[in-house]
Amino acid sequence: MNAIEEGRGIGTALLDKIESLAKQKNCKRLWLITTNDNVDALRFYQKRGYEIRAVHLHSIEESRKIKPQLPLIGKYGIPIRDEIEMDKNL
Ligand SMILES: CC(C)(COP(=O)(O)OP(=O)(O)OC[C@H]1O[C@@H](n2cnc3c(N)ncnc32)[C@H](O)[C@@H]1OP(=O)(O)O)[C@@H](O)C(=O)NCCC(=O)NCCS
Repeated sequence: MNAIEEGRGIGTALLDKIESLAKQKNCKRLWLITTNDNVDALRFYQKRGYEIRAVHLHSIEESRKIKPQLPLIGKYGIPIRDEIEMDKNL
């Protein structure tokens, strides 16, 4: 998910749409993966009912083998290392 311009309600609108489409398809759970540096996403999703289900420590090393363009340093100068799995029951 990418709001392109942050803090203007685009992310909320996108997530509302995804959730309503998933409900229409009778999905019971939505899940996502973000990275340890993405504190904005962690705040955003937790405030919208998503919970942390698993933390995959140092798993970005594996992802970099498939996607070498993944940067070493992420948001706020935080090294990107771990993948954080979140979900919400619909
Ligand atoms: C995470 C992300 C999707 C959130 O999207 P967003 O469009 O910034 O989210 P919103 O604008 O809907 O909400 C963010 C905050 O802005 C506030 N906001 C909403 N509309 C606003 C407006 N018109 N003016 C000012 N603030 C506003 C919201 O209240 C919200 O605050 P809250 O979280 O305390 O409730 C966005 O930061 C993003 O695209 N990031 C880069 C890509 C990324 O990291 N994606 C997630 C990967 S898992």
